[in-house]
Amino acid sequence: MEMAHEEIRQAYQMLGQEATAYDGMITCSTFFGRMICKLVWDMNKADNDRYLQLALSGIPEDFAGKLLEVPVGTGVLTMPVYRKLENADVTCLDYSADMMATAQKRAAASSLSHVRFLRGDVGALPFEDERFDTVLSLNGFHAFPDKEAAYRETFRVLKPGGVFCGCFYIRGENRSTDWFIRHFYEPKGFFTPPFETAESLNKRLESLYTSVTLETVKSMACFCCRKRKKENAS
Ligand SMILES: C[S@@+](CC[C@H](N)C(=O)[O-])C[C@H]1O[C@@H](n2cnc3c(N)ncnc32)[C@H](O)[C@@H]1O
Repeated sequence: MEMAHEEIRQAYQMLGQEATAYDGMITCSTFFGRMICKLVWDMNKADNDRYLQLALSGIPEDFAGKLLEVPVGTGVLTMPVYRKLENADVTCLDYSADMMATAQKRAAASSLSHVRFLRGDVGALPFEDERFDTVLSLNGFHAFPDKEAAYRETFRVLKPGGVFCGCFYIRGENRSTDWFIRHFYEPKGFFTPPFETAESLNKRLESLYTSVTLETVKSMACFCCRKRKKENAS
């Protein structure tokens, strides 16, 4: 397990140092980014924007509670969101200090004093049970080495009634994407199997959460669900 963590850390250390290329890819906005989006994901900018919008749809515009984002990466997708959530209390966590350094610079440039950063492992979150109103995870579960621990920990730190939402790669939607993942992303340590399918993810979320919505955009699964309230809670 430690080895897997180290390989993933090194892979994202390299990406963190190439934050501009990474950001262009994840937002499908630069020439290089658009090429990768099309070639690997069969997505154009509209598809890319659509999956992000779905993944973030669990966070209301006036959200004012405690939110955990894991993994934050370079923060390119979420710092613009947090600029508008000035009454929220946001904690961002990532395993890679290099990826997160870019996110921290972004937050500082916009004076986001309600956003804090913590380096850590999603499989051993340094928070007490039921601390957060929302847990957001964008493009994380396909990278995490110990997915069972990640599901367990994100569930544990969420309050009953709280929202778990985000997106990640699922296999079985597009053969060409699956091929690129297996032959390029896995060997580089960016993605780590086993991967969910739409069916297995839906089943897993249904077993843990209530009000599950799951929508796919190409090979990206976007989900939103709620942790059940306790039986005797009003
Ligand atoms: C594809 S990036 C996604 C980052 C960001 N959410 C985004 O969408 O741009 C995957 C991130 O997962 C982080 N990561 C991998 N394993 C992790 C772990 N066990 N705990 C926390 N973060 C981890 C990596 O450091 C990397 O920043």
